[in-house]
Amino acid sequence: MIKAIGFARLVVSAGLALALISGAEGVLRASPLPQKSAQDVYLDKCSVCHAKDGSGNTAKGRKVKAKDLRSAEIQKMSDADLIHDVAQGKGKDMDGFEKELGADMVKQLVAYCRSLAKQ
Ligand code: HEC
Repeated sequence: MIKAIGFARLVVSAGLALALISGAEGVLRASPLPQKSAQDVYLDKCSVCHAKDGSGNTAKGRKVKAKDLRSAEIQKMSDADLIHDVAQGKGKDMDGFEKELGADMVKQLVAYCRSLAKQ
């Protein structure tokens, strides 16, 4: 009888240990993938119109008249205004990106646009 209880305990604690291990595995698997950099996202989502260098000199960029992001006209705008326009969209051709990319990435993208002007 005592032996049987001991065995039952062993089974229960082995089960618990397994549950803990698989739980930890679940946590590891759920950890987020490395974040994409603003540059990756820019090349993926923005360069089709704005070109790699920000000039807007692509077939699509010329068609929609994407402004040169390095120009004084854009660079003199405040971060808040640029963030607002990238988040909510501007004109009829540029969609807002906040829903898709999140507010934090929009900020990073505006910083990236500024960095293009300095290259
Ligand atoms: C489909 C083409 C297209 C894509 C894709 C696009 N843009 Fe634009 N973008 C435009 C056009 C056109 C304008 C000029 C809009 C206007 O002034 O009416 C513009 C303007 C801007 C401006 C200037 C905003 C202002 O207030 O004048 C910034 C900054 C900008 N885009 C950043 C981005 C970023 C960052 C991305 C990627 C997340 C992006 N754009 C994707 C077409 C595009």
